[in-house]
Amino acid sequence: MGKILVIGAAGQIGTELVLALEKEYGKSNVIASDVKPEPTVALRESNYLSLDVMNAEALDRVVKEYGVSEIFLLAALLSATAEKNPDFAWKLNMEGLFNVLNLARDKKIEKVFWPSSIAVFGPTTPKDMTPQCTIMEPTTVYGISKQSGEQWCNYYHRKYDVDVRSIRYPGLISYTSLPGGGTTDYAVDIFYHAKRSNRYTCFLSENTALPMMYMEDAIRATIQIMQSPKENIKIRTSYNLAGMSFTPKLLAEAIKERLPGFGINYATDFRQEIADSWPNSIDDQDAKNDWGWSMSYDLSATVKLMLENIDESLM
Ligand code: SER
Repeated sequence: MGKILVIGAAGQIGTELVLALEKEYGKSNVIASDVKPEPTVALRESNYLSLDVMNAEALDRVVKEYGVSEIFLLAALLSATAEKNPDFAWKLNMEGLFNVLNLARDKKIEKVFWPSSIAVFGPTTPKDMTPQCTIMEPTTVYGISKQSGEQWCNYYHRKYDVDVRSIRYPGLISYTSLPGGGTTDYAVDIFYHAKRSNRYTCFLSENTALPMMYMEDAIRATIQIMQSPKENIKIRTSYNLAGMSFTPKLLAEAIKERLPGFGINYATDFRQEIADSWPNSIDDQDAKNDWGWSMSYDLSATVKLMLENIDESLM
């Protein structure tokens, strides 16, 4: 096996994925890259290089020079940020994917991981226990790019036998690095505010249920789907993945059990409409059947770990 290249390594998922891949395959086999010129603090010890995924030539050079055989492509603009900069979001999210898929089509790399999201669903999708195959009419730029990306992954698999694997991540909760520009970010922000001031003003309304997952589960799923035998990966668009499902109110109550004085109030903004268009909960039976997925962390375990581990200096 050649080297593993993680693109978008400075982000919320990228940071923890690099550290987990280094543990699994050894530091010398993992290359962390991001558009940022210097590595973030968490990646100081990693093999780091600055790389813009939209620069196909530079990407090609890195793949050749380091003997890369697998790429995890995480560079993207998330839902809330993408609404503010639709042209760039479309360009980054799609061009980055094509540049990587083309490397696999041309047999320069063997395997690709590309994340999709619950954002592929829209207001006409059944909201509870959303099935793998269902109505998908996304209303956000981010959702449209993920939905199109899924179809392109499937096309490259069928047409060019590209081994691309994907998961529709729910909102991800972690403490190593901050999320950037998503609608589910409240479920991370809340912990920093709880620790700092015992109060939080939430930008989603109290009863907005969304699918969420503790980062360690998401990373385990990512490595697991990539390590599974090729024939087990029957879905080449992207797999539904369920963790937990909760509302801001339920999360606040779980925090209050550990921080009794904690208080929450609500001031919704444009992200409410995005959240309202997404599912409440997800059916992930196919991931369970095909590659043996099962989640570990529930709401109470997540809250405990977050309150114990967040580093307030990050915010
Ligand atoms: N967490 C992402 C977002 O809120 C969803 O994939 O944009």
